[in-house]
Amino acid sequence: MLMDNRPIGVFDSGLGGLSTVRAMKKLLPGEDIIYFGDTGRVPYGTRSNETVETYAAQDIKFLQSFSCKMIVAACGTVSTAAANVLHSTKEPSTGIAKPSAKAAVNATKNKNIGVMGTSATVNSGAFDKEIAALLPEAKVTSVSCPLLVSLVESNWIDIDDEVTNAAVKRYITPILNSGADTIILGCTHFPILAPIIQKIAGDGVTLIDSGLEEARYVGEVLREKGMQNDAAHHGTQRFFVSDKTQNFVDVARVLLGEDISDKCEFVDIFKVI
Ligand code: DGL
Repeated sequence: MLMDNRPIGVFDSGLGGLSTVRAMKKLLPGEDIIYFGDTGRVPYGTRSNETVETYAAQDIKFLQSFSCKMIVAACGTVSTAAANVLHSTKEPSTGIAKPSAKAAVNATKNKNIGVMGTSATVNSGAFDKEIAALLPEAKVTSVSCPLLVSLVESNWIDIDDEVTNAAVKRYITPILNSGADTIILGCTHFPILAPIIQKIAGDGVTLIDSGLEEARYVGEVLREKGMQNDAAHHGTQRFFVSDKTQNFVDVARVLLGEDISDKCEFVDIFKVI
């Protein structure tokens, strides 16, 4: 059987991509992961497409220095606003847009889908296009939720956090008013807030975890291409950040259920590129 023991490169503007890592650890336990979180330049979602493209190209170049077998943008903003950069890599690559749109189309019963993303993602219209390609009659209501990124980066993620609850409520009201029965968490920071979003949206609304859908898709690509690691291998993770913040380690502890301090290194992204 074909086998490929090179690591998978995963990146995000910050710690949102850990929601993809969490799912990859569960679904693809034999895979080694190199993660880059651009914590020194987060957020990406309020920047121009040109800037996001430049950052994405640099992040990818850094991951390529580890000879990664696949590049995974665990970042909704890169997946949508810098899709051309992401999809021009020599290695197979993916973002969250296609896998999440597919899951939403499969989940919706009333063909009414909401999308929560960053401003750059919503302005790109990428989710609308992906959904329309699969289900042309779908109604899509997209809302940009930039403050949620900062709230997650600040570790204000407790289900009872008053400020985060108020922000989520304000952002998702237009989606709930539109009658959507399915909401794509179109920024990888948002699955971290899923318990709050679900509580406010109610049980009748299905949330699409972009990190989980992306991890599933990575598994499909590896299987199709015969690029899985040895099944007996116990996957490892290394984390690099462009600004070493305690919040990164704190949120990782909640999300991944482990202390990653020893696996987390600072990298001066400007020196690498
Ligand atoms: N996690 C990101 C995304 O999925 C980035 C948010 C940001 O940097 O603004 O869009």
